[in-house]
Amino acid sequence: MSLNGQRVVVLGGTAGIGLATAQAAAAAGATVIVSSSSRARVDQALATLPTGTEGYRVDLTDENAVEALFTGLGEIDHVVYTAGGPLVLGELDSLSFEGVRRALDVRVWGALSAAKHARAHLRPGGSITLTTGSAGRRPTPGWVVGASSCGAIESLTRALAVELAPIRVNAVMPGMVRTELWTPVAGPDAQALYESTGKGLLVGRVGEPEDIAAAYLYLMQNGFSTGAVLELDGGHVLA
Ligand SMILES: NC(=O)c1ccc[n+]([C@@H]2O[C@H](COP(=O)([O-])OP(=O)(O)OC[C@H]3O[C@@H](n4cnc5c(N)ncnc54)[C@H](OP(=O)(O)O)[C@@H]3O)[C@@H](O)[C@H]2O)c1
Repeated sequence: MSLNGQRVVVLGGTAGIGLATAQAAAAAGATVIVSSSSRARVDQALATLPTGTEGYRVDLTDENAVEALFTGLGEIDHVVYTAGGPLVLGELDSLSFEGVRRALDVRVWGALSAAKHARAHLRPGGSITLTTGSAGRRPTPGWVVGASSCGAIESLTRALAVELAPIRVNAVMPGMVRTELWTPVAGPDAQALYESTGKGLLVGRVGEPEDIAAAYLYLMQNGFSTGAVLELDGGHVLA
């Protein structure tokens, strides 16, 4: 299956893994639509994407806005969900449930709402690809929230694959990837964090957004994949 002439929507496609996926889908012949919660970021992303790419400011925690986006788009072929706000890290005693709810709002409820409102617009052969993470399989202290959202997405993927068939629903499970997600955690020392984490991985380095984008393209294009969680973690779970 080629992506020529297909309409691919990347929710959270203005930065990091989502932007790399939007760029890879466009290079594979798709017409791409990106969205995120900031108009400025949408415009920055559009500047890196081919003419004809559409971009919309949509806060994915607002179900009405998600519904309006898909109604406005009409027929589409694939939806990729890579949106995620800042990481909420910290051991249980230190967690504010307000912050926890916000984190799950984007990663989990946003994904559910996107699937709910996208399904009627997906053409035959269409797919939805969600995003989880290796922290769900191998959490360390402080990752209660991140790991929980990953677990929820893995189960949601399988449940949606069954319920929405023949629409295919899969998920990508990255390990650590070099994106702005880590800036608030590592600050100016992000490079040191990538190097020390990379040394502990079987492949000797952390991921690049392009490594992970290839997985979304594979899942969009492989008509036999559904309910799958594709791991690209450099061996994190095994190391
Ligand atoms: N990077 C990693 O190491 C890694 C590892 C495992 C899993 N993941 C997961 O993979 C996903 C993508 O990560 P990333 O590293 O590419 O993150 P990123 O660089 O921070 O990009 C996140 C994207 O989500 C958008 N977003 C955030 N809140 C939103 C909202 N309320 N509505 C709409 N869009 C929103 C952001 O745009 P705006 O800010 O403009 O809204 C941005 O486009 C996340 O779920 C992350 O948890 C990442």
